[in-house]
Order: sequence, then C-alpha cells, then structure tokens
Amino acid sequence: MDWGEFLSRHLVWDQGEHVTLVGKTGSGKTNLAQQLLPQRDFVCAIGTKPKDETMLSLIRKDKYRRIREWPPPTVIGARSQRIALWPRFERPEDVVEQQRVIDAALREIFAAGGWTIFADELYYLCRFLGMARLFEVFWSQARSIGITVVGGAQRPAWLPLMAYSQATHLFFARTTDHRDVMRLGSLGGNDARLIADTLGSLRQYEFLYINTVTGDLLITKPEKR
Ligand SMILES: Nc1ncnc2c1ncn2[C@@H]1O[C@H](COP(=O)(O)OP(=O)(O)OP(=O)(O)O)[C@@H](O)[C@H]1O
Ligand SMILES: [Mg+2]
Repeated sequence: MDWGEFLSRHLVWDQGEHVTLVGKTGSGKTNLAQQLLPQRDFVCAIGTKPKDETMLSLIRKDKYRRIREWPPPTVIGARSQRIALWPRFERPEDVVEQQRVIDAALREIFAAGGWTIFADELYYLCRFLGMARLFEVFWSQARSIGITVVGGAQRPAWLPLMAYSQATHLFFARTTDHRDVMRLGSLGGNDARLIADTLGSLRQYEFLYINTVTGDLLITKPEKR
C-alpha cells in the first residue's frame, strides 16, 4: 500500500494503542516512527545516546523541546507538547543518572496519563538500563489510562514478548534470520508461514504492517522525510 494512503486513510491509531517496530540497523525504523508521531498530541521522546541523531532531528524538524529532567515546563491549556527527554550523557558514569532520570520520568508519565512515549532504543532501555519490567507495565496496563508506547528494536528476541502481544500496530522490516522469523511468525495467531515468507521478500525500507486487533496485514514503504 502506498505510504501516503496508509498514513492518511488506512492507519487507525488511537491513543492508548502501542506501536512496535523491529528491523536491523538502517532498515528505516526511526524514519517511519517519526512520521507516525505527528498524529499524537503529547509526545515524550527518550534520548539515550550522547549524540542522538533521532533527538537532534526531532528537535530541529519537529520543534521538540529538549529537557534534561522531567517534568517539562507547564504550558497552561496546551493542546500538544513535544518533549525530548535527553538526560546528560557525557561520561560513562552518567548512565547512573540517565537511568534515574528516565525511570522517574516514566513513573510520572504513567501517573499523569495521556502521553505517548517514543522509545527508539528499547533494547538499551529494557536490557541495559534494566527497565523491561517498567515497560511491561506500560504495555500491559497503559491502555486504560491512554498511554501509548512507540518503541523500536533491531532484533525481535531483544524485546519482551509484551512488546508484541500488547501492541496493536507492528512494523517489521526484512529479515531472513531463522530465529527472527520464528519469533515474529509466531506472534498474534497469524499465519506463521505467510509472515516468514513475507519477511524474507521485503525490499529495502519496506515494512510488513500487522494490526493485531483487526488482523490486517500489508506491506508499505515510508517515504524518506
Ligand atoms: N523509506 C526510506 N527511503 C529512503 N531512505 C530511507 C528510508 N527510510 C530510511 N532511510 C534512510 O536510511 C537511513 C537509516 O534509517 P533509520 O535511521 O530510520 O534506520 P533505523 O532502522 O532507525 O536504524 P537504527 O536501528 O540504526 O536506529 C537514514 O539515513 C534514512 O534517511
Ligand atoms: Mg533508529
């Protein structure tokens, strides 16, 4: 399906529905996610790297406001807010502070409700910073309070299963890796063989889109933004 048509007419994405993107490095996950996010009103993107290109581009192109620590400045009556939560990371020991700041922010966001969390590096957050349990709470509970997680990872096995089972919208880039195909093919009661074959046949920057609620399956290729 043409990307423009997919985005404007096909994709029905309500607040509280999670999005999970998987694809090896350079497959176009961040590019895709950045084109979904304008549909949400309150977005907190989490920056985890010292030089985080995703954060820089959100700040430059989409006017995200950079903060080093939650909360963002209050704007009375704001209808939307775009925040880049990007804790200081200049020395290796800063990971301790990074962990503390992101953990505290996620807890506040959970309590507040209504936000979309953009976690472009879920592996780093879940495994390296040890936040898998916290994200599992978001994936499993956040729907009722209208929190959306948009998350990406390079390998399917790097994510907790809830990243798939609790997400409504899945985007997978090409892979022929046997273990990846097994993991992705087994999700959501879909036809494993069809998914495996499709994943292997995708071209550069194409994604298989799976809607776990409607059972929709289609291929689309985002434009480069
Ligand atoms: N649909 C597309 N058409 C053309 N170029 C694209 C497309 N999607 C992404 N690119 C380009 O490919 C490069 C990698 O894209 P992107 O950063 O989105 O990949 P990624 O999956 O997020 O990689 P990583 O896992 O390393 O973060 C970028 O330079 C981007 O501009
Ligand atoms: Mg990326």
